Amino acid sequence: MVDVTDVSSVTPIIGRLTVVGLGLIGGSFAKGMRQSGLCTEVVGCDLDPVARRQAVPLGVVDRVTADLSEAVAGADMIMLAVPVLGMRAVLEQLAAMPSQTAVITDVGSTKGAVVKAVEEVFGRVPSNFVPGHPIAGSEKSGVEAARADLFKHHKVILTPLEDTSKQALALVQQCWQALQADVEQMSMADHDEVLAATSHLPHLLAFSLVDTLAGRNENLEIFRYAAGGFRDFTRIAASDPVMWRDVFLANRDAVLRSLDAFTQDLSRLRDAVESRDANTLLGVFTRAKSAREHFSTILARRAYMEPMQTKSINFVASPGGKVQGQIRVPGDKSISHRSIMLGSLAEGVTEVEGFLEGEDSLATLQAFRDMGVVIEGPHHGRVTINGVGLQGLQAPPGSLYLGNSGTSMRLLSGLLAGQTFDTVLTGDASLSKRPMGRVAKPLREMGAKIETADEGRPPLRISGTGRLMGMDYSMPMASAQVKSCVLLAGLYASGSTSVTEPAPTRDHTERMLKGFGYPVKVDGATVTIESGHKLQACKIDVPADISSAAFFMVAASICEGADLLLEHVGINPTRIGVINILREMGGNIEMSNEREVGGEPVADIRVRYAPLKGIEIPVDQVPLAIDEFPALFIAAACAEGRTILRGAEELRVKESDRIQVMADGLITLGVKAEPTPDGIVIDGSRIGSGSVESHGDHRIAMSFAVAALRAEGEIHIKDCANVATSFPDFVGLAQGVGMRVRLEENA
Ligand code: S3P
Repeated sequence: MVDVTDVSSVTPIIGRLTVVGLGLIGGSFAKGMRQSGLCTEVVGCDLDPVARRQAVPLGVVDRVTADLSEAVAGADMIMLAVPVLGMRAVLEQLAAMPSQTAVITDVGSTKGAVVKAVEEVFGRVPSNFVPGHPIAGSEKSGVEAARADLFKHHKVILTPLEDTSKQALALVQQCWQALQADVEQMSMADHDEVLAATSHLPHLLAFSLVDTLAGRNENLEIFRYAAGGFRDFTRIAASDPVMWRDVFLANRDAVLRSLDAFTQDLSRLRDAVESRDANTLLGVFTRAKSAREHFSTILARRAYMEPMQTKSINFVASPGGKVQGQIRVPGDKSISHRSIMLGSLAEGVTEVEGFLEGEDSLATLQAFRDMGVVIEGPHHGRVTINGVGLQGLQAPPGSLYLGNSGTSMRLLSGLLAGQTFDTVLTGDASLSKRPMGRVAKPLREMGAKIETADEGRPPLRISGTGRLMGMDYSMPMASAQVKSCVLLAGLYASGSTSVTEPAPTRDHTERMLKGFGYPVKVDGATVTIESGHKLQACKIDVPADISSAAFFMVAASICEGADLLLEHVGINPTRIGVINILREMGGNIEMSNEREVGGEPVADIRVRYAPLKGIEIPVDQVPLAIDEFPALFIAAACAEGRTILRGAEELRVKESDRIQVMADGLITLGVKAEPTPDGIVIDGSRIGSGSVESHGDHRIAMSFAVAALRAEGEIHIKDCANVATSFPDFVGLAQGVGMRVRLEENA
């Protein structure tokens, strides 16, 4: 990337650049390119004499003319920056000139109309034409507003066609990158649809609202009392009217689609106000509020924008530090997911306390909002769910995006298989690689229609046939997600549904179903439910997540002098493998104040430093500590002697291949770690320093942050943004107890 203020080190890649149209956008492009040093000469062309008079003194271009053929003579690149509807006239003149070898690009904010004009004028779209659109602007216009840095950190969308030349595309991309823009590619149709919804429609609304209010008799009063909301909402009504007129005419069809959908929703809201329908109003407002709050994460990823995630977050963990004090880690992830699911399907209002406000459980919450459930919150862990009953879900407007959350996808697939509407479940890059055949197979045996991508990967396309049959399913692997999926499908299946597990796995679904008054039979390793009953709303107190507490249990165990109290931690017997294993390694862990809250056992856990020794981890503890192994591997690295894990092949299909990724990181830090197909062998030793990859896996990231307590130097941990899926304030809490970990954000 070229710093537009420093051209000393840049070699020009373009001789002459001609910019046609020296308004804000064209002028800013010209000015930025001039300063970048990437071209030897920038020529401007504009019919407006004032713009021509100002362009050279303002440093926008080297020379300027009103004559297009003079401007483009000898140009290597031509940038068309005239309003969309003015484009055709310029193209016609260009087409009449001797054949162009220059790369031609544009900044038109609707791509279909520009490309159509090019096609009609030239007879086909020349391969040296690269359609583009910078998403930057301001309420100021004209060459006098041009800024060399206008595009810095703004998106520029290029919409190449099938036979657009690769070299031309690369050159245009390089120019925008030199202006520090984030360049994306999209299809022309997608671009116009997305922009119609996210840019054109809001501009139309802002123009319209200001016009409506300005036309009222009491307009002076209204504008005098205009509060911040009105100002924010209508800021864009000060934009260039001519440009916007052109945009709406050029992108007419896509705008109409968005406008019609909006008009329909608006009239529904009008009806709700008229009939005092508080539930509908709250439903729309809570859905919108959460969508707005999670705009940059969930919403931005859901639209075409997965690669647009701009910030990468790394951790830097410095050696040493303390582990001291008293903390409560966030709510249990498994229980939080289930509280939303069962609360939504219950009759009445369910109040949840201690809900985990992490991206994974929020993805579940959003999915139910998308299916018409009115959910208030979360606010400081409180969520109010207005249950719709087992038959009350509605078809979502689009696919359900579940981010990084395997639990959301697997559990939802069971209950969606029982609906009468179709759904599509998608996720981020990591979730899209995870095996879903394990849920699709039993669900198909129950009569569900589910399509997956290759090798049983997401997305899942579930047809709501409304006809499932109960069955007895013997699970090939110990998985609470599969068990829960089949049980939730069982709520909708004819007759009874049983699941038998090869080893005990977390039983939150069974416990919570009972808490909602739904009969569940547990007989040894087999759980059975029958359809035909109802879920009754209740209160849920989500305990702190033992999986999150585990990082601090290991931290306190390995850090000399440590003494830490973890409050209100869930100690369900199917989850306490980490305590059992650490104790067997010599850990000093005491539980006190044991009690039961809402059907789940809870305790305060005190952990003090103790020298650990390597052990052979008992295989029966594996499913009971399945999420805690990354942290336990750090304990093993700090223990004296060898730790051996077997029977844990499931770790290879978690958010990352946790055996390989942990082994790679440990080896980088100088620890002897040898992965095996179903486990790992770790020899306790000194921990060095270095840079490790978390592969976007939250638990790997947090584990290496803990390792720094015993490291000899800094540990840099890459790709830690997903810590927010399960433990949003990990760094804050870790610093609070004395650990020396900090965030490093890269744009
Ligand atoms: C979970 C079950 C486990 C666990 C996951 C949460 C659940 O997955 O790893 O983090 O909430 O049911 P498996 O069922 O795949 O073992």
